[in-house]
Amino acid sequence: MEKPNILVIGSINMDLVTETNIIPNVGETVLGDSFQTIPGGKGANQAVAAAKLGAEVTLLGCIGDDDLGNELKNHLKDQGICIDYINTIQEQSTGIASITLSEGDNSIIVVPGANSMLTPQLVRSYEDLIAKSDMILVQLEIPLKSVMETAALATKHHVPMILNPAPIQDLPKELLLQATYLTPNEHEQAALLATSDLSSEELEQVKKKCITTQGSKGVRIYDEVEKLIPAFNVEGVDSTGAGDTFNGALAVFLTRGLSIIDACQFANAAAALSVTKLGAQSGMPSLLEVKEFLAQHNK
Ligand code: RIB
Repeated sequence: MEKPNILVIGSINMDLVTETNIIPNVGETVLGDSFQTIPGGKGANQAVAAAKLGAEVTLLGCIGDDDLGNELKNHLKDQGICIDYINTIQEQSTGIASITLSEGDNSIIVVPGANSMLTPQLVRSYEDLIAKSDMILVQLEIPLKSVMETAALATKHHVPMILNPAPIQDLPKELLLQATYLTPNEHEQAALLATSDLSSEELEQVKKKCITTQGSKGVRIYDEVEKLIPAFNVEGVDSTGAGDTFNGALAVFLTRGLSIIDACQFANAAAALSVTKLGAQSGMPSLLEVKEFLAQHNK
């Protein structure tokens, strides 16, 4: 079977991960347990998830002209991702995410740096790349105008697009209407349905595109009627990147022609496996691992 050709347009960050039992209050200093730098960024994470599951993945993104940027670019290459469209931006620092991890849950501050230089003009200059992709995957850690440009070009060339609306912000209704699929979590879904200036008909249209991730409660979709695809219960050590794994996997399995329900089941399994290791990308599974996991859990 031919490999799906997935284009991810999004952020590339280095995650600065501190593990701690105690989260400090304002003005307080506490001693943490460990510190690591781990590759991340929603765009890069989703690209790695899709590549590990056997897709041909290209990542369009920006890094700074610094050591972190070089390290991330080499790492993405090692993951089998096409890095020809990763732009090094002079006098910009590579994006970072400061992550505090406590009892498996995280809080994150992202400083976009070079990611904010992924401009609409830059996206437009890669129109050919967009036109020849089987699926586009985009998130909101790059400028909103660039996400809108991506959606316009994807629509023009009839390429399906998954918009993962994270981190959430006010979104123009054209974007919601142009996306083929929206993958918010519950909080993001509530915000995007509330903040957009949608008619009741458009609201229904948008709701039907939503594949809403609800953590341990599973994934909610509208397939004629509302359906819940249950999550798998696993012993998690780090939930960072679980949503990204879900998105990367969803893109792969939809492109391979699975129904939304089956694609979500595979993507749920991939996301469950991803939380069993520290770091956004370390636990992302291969196709074989997902199949073995499903075979064990669907007995
Ligand atoms: O979704 C997880 C990601 O969000 C982290 O890897 C971090 O870089 C932030 O972008």
